Amino acid sequence: MSELVKKDISKPLAVITGATGGLGEIFARLLAQRGFDLLLVGRNREKLESLAALFNKNFKVSASPIVSDLSSETELRKLCTFLKTLPQTPHVLINNAGFGFVGNALSMAPEKAQEMINVNVKALTALTLALAPQMKEKGVGRILNVASIAAFMPCPTMAVYASTKAYVLSFSEALNTELKGTGVTVSALCPGPLATAFWDRAGLESTYSLNTWMTSTESAAQAGIDALFSGTPVTTPGIANRLLTVTACMAPRSWTRYITHLWLKKFLNQK
Ligand SMILES: NC(=O)c1ccc[n+]([C@@H]2O[C@H](COP(=O)([O-])OP(=O)(O)OC[C@H]3O[C@@H](n4cnc5c(N)ncnc54)[C@H](OP(=O)(O)O)[C@@H]3O)[C@@H](O)[C@H]2O)c1
Repeated sequence: MSELVKKDISKPLAVITGATGGLGEIFARLLAQRGFDLLLVGRNREKLESLAALFNKNFKVSASPIVSDLSSETELRKLCTFLKTLPQTPHVLINNAGFGFVGNALSMAPEKAQEMINVNVKALTALTLALAPQMKEKGVGRILNVASIAAFMPCPTMAVYASTKAYVLSFSEALNTELKGTGVTVSALCPGPLATAFWDRAGLESTYSLNTWMTSTESAAQAGIDALFSGTPVTTPGIANRLLTVTACMAPRSWTRYITHLWLKKFLNQK
């Protein structure tokens, strides 16, 4: 990683995890368009290198790939140390890497659940706590954590995933409040279903029944970038998703559990 240390530190620097596709790739493009240099984190070296080359060429920024498996304790520690010792404190951190699993919790291998908690919760927390103190010292920093509408309600058939996202939302809101007045903001983006590789990776055979509910990935990413720069604590793209989350917060907990279960069984074709 040390060969990636930037020589030219005149441009602001952004770190984006899960940059190999979906939301992360769009976040990277939107920040490159704004003139940010980029550190693109993911596991797929080939994809990261080709994206970095594309951004370097099209936007005249310096984009570098960082190959790191965020579920690995050793690799996460190495990444945190590398980021903390950069000559330039990153201006932006987007904790976007994450994955889900569709099915009852008991049908999930315990190792898979642990891996999900490591990526969705542990890595996001470690990276935030690695960079936020330096950002605070400089008096400038923007952090965006990607949660989900699943963060607002218990989700039978996606139990572990929704629980990790509830953590992301709660952690981000609390940190945003703790950092008030420091120049550092923490925002949570809570998208509804998006047409990315997420669902295939989560083991859903077809997204057909989800299609009518999906919002555009591009506009969800744009909403995230807008929230990042305005410091908005929580952003839920799409009116239907906003209505859903407000209703879930206001309804009695037992109703929310019951209705969410019915909906998810229908939309995710689960028994
Ligand atoms: N799609 C949706 O419907 C939806 C809805 C709400 C929230 N979200 C959230 O949005 C975020 C982005 O997901 P997406 O929809 O863009 O899905 P995606 O296309 O599958 O992207 C997920 C990203 O996370 C990275 N990742 C996964 N495991 C990793 C690991 N162990 N180490 C490093 N990177 C890892 C992947 O990189 P690799 O190339 O290394 O696999 C990939 O770049 C996730 O946090 C997801 O939970 C998605």
